[in-house]
Amino acid sequence: MIYAEILAGGKGTRMGNVNMPKQYLPLKGKPIIVHTIEKFILNDRFEKIIIATPKDWINHTQDIIKKYIFDSRVIVIEGGTDRNETIMNGIRYVEKEFGLNEDDIIVTHDAVRPFITHRIIEENIEMALEFGSVDTVIPAVDTIVESTNHDFITDIPVRDNIYQGQTPQSFNMKTIQKHYNNLSDEEKQILTDACKICLLAGEKVKLVNGGISNIKITTPYDLKVANAIVQERINS
Ligand code: CTP
Repeated sequence: MIYAEILAGGKGTRMGNVNMPKQYLPLKGKPIIVHTIEKFILNDRFEKIIIATPKDWINHTQDIIKKYIFDSRVIVIEGGTDRNETIMNGIRYVEKEFGLNEDDIIVTHDAVRPFITHRIIEENIEMALEFGSVDTVIPAVDTIVESTNHDFITDIPVRDNIYQGQTPQSFNMKTIQKHYNNLSDEEKQILTDACKICLLAGEKVKLVNGGISNIKITTPYDLKVANAIVQERINS
């Protein structure tokens, strides 16, 4: 089976003083999260599309899904204390409700990346079925400067080898669950990226090309850029 999980369990603190998590803020008349879910329901390969939100926002999410989305595959569950726990809650939900098979995969995507394309979703599915772990990336445009002491440069990696991580990140569900469950509480604190968990466990993580529009809405500036992208698409 192929599952999708929209990660909407965060609070959006970097968005500043807004009265709701950023995934519910309006983007040209519809909540950001609705734009994102709309891209996933277009793909009929997904058995279920799981939306993981903060506990206090489950009802609100169910209301907006009733209003904007007409797809019985969409399910709302409670997210976790951090992003990886939110991913794992999705996997635990599937395990409890439907059972986990050896080749089941999950395509996990940030609720606040509403410009995901059909091509990126399809390539994530194909590569996850073939390789088991997938990250979506774009080549780094800026030179990356490392400073481990936050005072002087300690390294400047060759830019041709550097990519910026986006989502989706897609996984064989049994594999990532096994590697996550093997981590100590301390390792869980440090390993905030789900692909890194797979990498350190010795898995090959396949790259899929993302897109420059597949931005993550993090700050008020990003929301302005997102509005401009939607407006440009309306105009053309
Ligand atoms: N996320 C999640 N569960 C968490 C934390 C984050 O599902 N416990 C999701 C967010 O809802 C978001 C995505 O992960 O869609 C990317 O994370 P980020 O942009 O860091 O979101 P927030 O944690 O909400 O933002 P901030 O760090 O500004 O508080």
